[in-house]
Amino acid sequence: MITVPVVLGAGEAARTDGEAGARGYDVLVGDGASARLADLVARRVPSARRAAVVTDEAVAATPWFARMDPGLPYEVHAVEAGERAKTMANVESLCRAFALSGLARSDVVVAVGGGVVSDLGGFAAAVYHRGTPYCTVATSLLGQVDAAIGGKTGVNLPEGKNLVGAFWQPTGVLCDTALLETLPRREWASGRGEMAKYTFLGEPELLELPFEAQVGRCVARKAMVVAADERETGTRVLLNYGHTLAHALEAAALRSGVDLRHGEAVALGLVYAAGLARRLGRIGDDRVALHHEVVKRFGLSDRLPPGLEGMDPEELLAYMARDKKATHDLSFVLDGPRGVELVRGVAVKDALGALEELEDPSCT
Ligand SMILES: NC(=O)c1ccc[n+]([C@@H]2O[C@H](COP(=O)([O-])OP(=O)(O)OC[C@H]3O[C@@H](n4cnc5c(N)ncnc54)[C@H](O)[C@@H]3O)[C@@H](O)[C@H]2O)c1
Ligand SMILES: [Zn+2]
Repeated sequence: MITVPVVLGAGEAARTDGEAGARGYDVLVGDGASARLADLVARRVPSARRAAVVTDEAVAATPWFARMDPGLPYEVHAVEAGERAKTMANVESLCRAFALSGLARSDVVVAVGGGVVSDLGGFAAAVYHRGTPYCTVATSLLGQVDAAIGGKTGVNLPEGKNLVGAFWQPTGVLCDTALLETLPRREWASGRGEMAKYTFLGEPELLELPFEAQVGRCVARKAMVVAADERETGTRVLLNYGHTLAHALEAAALRSGVDLRHGEAVALGLVYAAGLARRLGRIGDDRVALHHEVVKRFGLSDRLPPGLEGMDPEELLAYMARDKKATHDLSFVLDGPRGVELVRGVAVKDALGALEELEDPSCT
């Protein structure tokens, strides 16, 4: 079992908003980590007399779900599986169900599931009674290496993803790698894309480690970035490496009915960012080749999926810039001699050239 401490607010003046003394938590990674749930709740939320377990229907149907034990009387609240569950309507339903079950501010919310459940359950906890403690059993690979750590919680609006949310840190996170056995094959891609990203964020040897240690290193890397920039005012943006194009591809895929997982889009985003960095003279051919190799070694493709081949680069660029008027200030997180950093003011011709290269690798 690997324990990764997430240290928050280092050097911060004493807080007066009720969070003092609770500035940090552990992430436990390993086979069987979820068996520590009751212990975690007892140690970190000693005031709790009852728990609300938030999950989704697919997770609730797994053979291991019945073994989840917060060590207190609890009710299970299962939402539909998938991104569509991240709604304000579900936040209201959950909070009303918490109230009906008699959940107090001194009690605890336990999110058991992937990133959707930790985002939704964490946000419901953040607003219920103006803030109720919560902890997470992360059950998807993406949840374990990324979503469950860092305290960003929230839901979507019809106008956009993650538009409503709160920074609300969990009291602990359990990443039980044994639970991944039931994870659908396609969901693995989501987590692997993020893992490929961490290779370029200070973990070059990631692939050489045993699987559990790989997850542990990703958690530690995310914890480090979050500790340095809890509210994403600076360096936390580096976690978006590969994500500018990824988000554009996801939007394009949604519009054209192409099934593209987040991690598959991130993999393409990494390859694109490498091509763009080369155009800007920041890295050479060897680094670009490394991006392709890493993506492939994580089992992901470095080529656009059939439905997105031949997409108009201008359209993708518009997605990346959100709006054509903003194309004069394109920013990307890019590799370079000092490592990965935020680069502002990228010229449209370079962004477009790198897109053409992604669509037709022979045109470099
Ligand atoms: N808060 C953050 O910092 C952060 C970071 C990255 C992503 N996210 C969010 O995370 C979400 C994506 O997370 P995700 O990929 O985990 O999606 P998800 O939570 O929808 O899980 C994917 C699917 O796998 C199923 N599942 C999960 N664990 C399982 C298991 N062990 N066995 C069988 N089935 C299982 C779920 O029911 C779901 O159908 C997005 O909404 C994204 O915005 C948040
Ligand atoms: Zn991501």
